[in-house]
Amino acid sequence: QMGAPMNKKVITEDMITNKTENGYNLNFDVNKNYTTKTATVNGKTVTYRAYENIVYVAKPVDIAYQTINIYIPEEYFKNKSVGKYNAKSAPIFFPNTVGGYMPGAAGMPGNGRDGKPDASLVALSNGYIVASPGARGRTLEKDGKYTGKAPAVIVDLKAAVRYLRYNDTRMPGRADRIISNGTSAGGAVSALLGATGNSRDYEPYLKEIGALNARDDIYAVSAYCPITNLDNANTAYEWMFNDVKTYKKIEISMLDYNVERKYTEGTLTDDEISRSNDLKKMFPAYLNSLKLKGKNGKFLTLDENGNGSFKDQIKQYYIDSANTALKKGIDLSEFEFLTIKNGKVVDLDYDKYVAYMGRQKTPGAFDNVDLSTGENNEFGDETTNNKHFTEYTLEHSTVNGTMADKKIIKMMNPMDYIANSKVKYWRIRHGAIDKDTSLAIPAILAIKLENLGKKVDFASPWATPHSGDYDLDELFIWMDKVVA
Ligand code: DHB
Repeated sequence: QMGAPMNKKVITEDMITNKTENGYNLNFDVNKNYTTKTATVNGKTVTYRAYENIVYVAKPVDIAYQTINIYIPEEYFKNKSVGKYNAKSAPIFFPNTVGGYMPGAAGMPGNGRDGKPDASLVALSNGYIVASPGARGRTLEKDGKYTGKAPAVIVDLKAAVRYLRYNDTRMPGRADRIISNGTSAGGAVSALLGATGNSRDYEPYLKEIGALNARDDIYAVSAYCPITNLDNANTAYEWMFNDVKTYKKIEISMLDYNVERKYTEGTLTDDEISRSNDLKKMFPAYLNSLKLKGKNGKFLTLDENGNGSFKDQIKQYYIDSANTALKKGIDLSEFEFLTIKNGKVVDLDYDKYVAYMGRQKTPGAFDNVDLSTGENNEFGDETTNNKHFTEYTLEHSTVNGTMADKKIIKMMNPMDYIANSKVKYWRIRHGAIDKDTSLAIPAILAIKLENLGKKVDFASPWATPHSGDYDLDELFIWMDKVVA
């Protein structure tokens, strides 16, 4: 599994490059505070300037995370071009390092754990400016208070976008061509950034941290396996996995896709089976309320048993996935749930496919009755570490849990904002064996965006687990196309 390399470097006050006697200097200066670096990408040397550890707000809460690293190809200071771009036209690649809704420090281009150049290094070699923001996360504490609970992660990313917008004329590249990228919780906040550009809901939070006065909308979104639409993810999960009564669960601290995972096997208890049945039953009402339309213009719906055209569409994504794999020459003969005729996958046994994927989470998968999930932890507040964010689980709480603020639940869900988003280009991926969330969740996001007239590139790559940045060639072809 790939992803951003772990950034374990602890940033301390003395490492901050824009600190002055009167606070943080938020005017970017290309001529100061950089080091020149080189790397090799596909046999080609890439030289770039690294401007690191820049605090992007006037009143940071945690300087270990509220910083941005900016990387600019050296050629842009010599009036030269790199690939398709020059200092005037270069888009800005904006990858976050968020995983598991944990804090994520500003990233650095390098080689991934697979030894290959990561997305940021490939971006530089293709002439992109790289701006990698850090953001607070759910486990942070300061002076006895929690400082990184929702909506801190999205507030910080917006503040970083504002920094780039504000400094557009001081820096090579186009701040009106920011393309956000992230995986898992990072994919979710990448989508959220695209959905909520310039929304006033976040204004008080941005003010509080001294964010710059500037736009915070971006140009395009890339999201891998977004763990999003959290307040509907419990029901979507049980709609898909209700029949699967055994599980291989990850430990809570292992939620983050960046970290090697340890699994514990188990069987659902009677209570859990009963909750699964309840949650499964609740999904069709939500799905039908969205009034999603399929490619043929007809509504995608579900009956009370969870069957219908929406389910057929989900099955179709898996069939399309298998066909794409087949076209690439991958042997699929071992998968007896597939019907292959004349070199084409024509059918897939949905129940068998779901059983083959297996269940990874126990009900409630995202908001659990014992407040044990990373998402419960994300929805805590300054003084309460974990909270519920769905009515059903609140009612069934075994630990007398309390409910998160409704406005904050909304601020974490792109579905509540996309109708007002001006972002046209969206690329969403969710692996065909990813069971960290139901495929229904990214599919709902993608279909809703399509229905709103956006240009959406959505697919579920075959045999791909919960991971990101695994198809950089295709990602950069897409990015080059949408910025043109
Ligand atoms: C991540 C994974 C999860 O299963 C989840 O619920 C939230 C986040 C992650 O890898 O970021």
